[in-house]
Amino acid sequence: MKETNRATFTSKIGMIAAAAGSAVGLGNIWRFPSMTADGGGAVFILVYIGCVLFFGIPVMVAEFIIGRSSKANTTGAFHILAPNTSWKWVGRLGVLTGFVIMGFYMVVCGWTLEYIWQSVSGKLATVTDFSANFAALQQDHLKQTLLMTGFAALTLLFTLSGVRKGVEKSSKIFMPTLFLLLILLGIRSVTLPGAINGLEFLFKPNMEHVKSTVFLDAMGQAFFSLSLGMGCMITYGSYFSDSSNLTKTAIQVSVLDMFVAILAGIVIFPSAFALTSNPDTILDDLINGGPGLLFITLPQLFNEIPLSMLWSSLFFILLAIAAITSTISLLEVVTIYIQEEYKRTRHESAVLVAIGVLVLGTVSSFSPKFFGLLDSVSAEWMLPIGGFFISLFVGWYLDEKLVYAQLTNEGKEKFGIKFLKGYRFILKYLAPLAILAIFVYGLIG
Ligand code: TRP
Repeated sequence: MKETNRATFTSKIGMIAAAAGSAVGLGNIWRFPSMTADGGGAVFILVYIGCVLFFGIPVMVAEFIIGRSSKANTTGAFHILAPNTSWKWVGRLGVLTGFVIMGFYMVVCGWTLEYIWQSVSGKLATVTDFSANFAALQQDHLKQTLLMTGFAALTLLFTLSGVRKGVEKSSKIFMPTLFLLLILLGIRSVTLPGAINGLEFLFKPNMEHVKSTVFLDAMGQAFFSLSLGMGCMITYGSYFSDSSNLTKTAIQVSVLDMFVAILAGIVIFPSAFALTSNPDTILDDLINGGPGLLFITLPQLFNEIPLSMLWSSLFFILLAIAAITSTISLLEVVTIYIQEEYKRTRHESAVLVAIGVLVLGTVSSFSPKFFGLLDSVSAEWMLPIGGFFISLFVGWYLDEKLVYAQLTNEGKEKFGIKFLKGYRFILKYLAPLAILAIFVYGLIG
């Protein structure tokens, strides 16, 4: 394997910050609450946690192994580890998935910009009907397109100016701040009168609202939130240093990611139940709430606390930051693929990808149907299919010695050795079979 002068992350903290920055994003704070509402609350969360522990962490380690042992982009990695086989199509599927995700994700990123503006300018503090306020944005297709373009341009700027310094450093400050703010808001939310109903919805399983697709939805959400199944963690793994512990990193990133999602739920649901003007229909409203949930419930919560503008400005700014570390990782996957596989400059590749994203994003801005389609096709189909093959690849195809060397850093690391047998078993049988079963069940259910 040729060691080129590819970049690596500069420090252990930087590496975790980058991987966590990719994982923690709109998936946790925007998508998770609306999936939880749609999935009926506590039952969805339980299945979700199971998915993270049983497939999420093992598949993340698998992606790290592929990335760090090949030191190449998602497709190049399969070329190197499995020359002249069809495995490279797993990488190509990943690149395509990255495109599809960016095609709707950037639109939501645009919404965060709008809400930053509304918070900072004081407009949000004067709103009385928050659903109508969000609906107005959704109906203004042109504005959404412009906001989306703005966010994509911002992402591109970061990508071009080198991720290592900018993102690694800023993630180390912004991520803890976001965390702290969520905890503060969570405390405010659960101390509102009537919040208890929201907590019950979150933590007390109630089979009444559970849908037959709960497993498929939870698995899709787990892959989405952890940035798995499309080679994002292969690409980031390829920047890891040889001394970093892959198992530990995967556990740290996954637990952190799960924490942020549940915290977001604690901010949103108790306040939604406490602040609703129609308690009889709140459950249905939540379940039918769709993608607007975060942008409707949260501003309402802010208006209940002193200095609402300050809190909402801070929150939406941090949300945009959480989002941009994720869009950077998505753009990185496709950019480095074009750069390495088609021998283009970084600049050319990134701009080319951004243009493609703008096309998809514009269609999503104009058509909520298309937006929803990209969302569900990527999370419920493309990512689990990617995860399925990645499991098989590391479970069956890769040489056991290579896997062992990666997990233990050539025998130097003891952490993770105990899990080695169990780990291979999960990747060989458990994860692929479960993914398959969930698929079939989700399709006929
Ligand atoms: N995980 C990010 C979030 O939760 C989104 C994301 C970034 C992603 N990279 C990815 C999702 C790769 C799937 C695959 O917001």
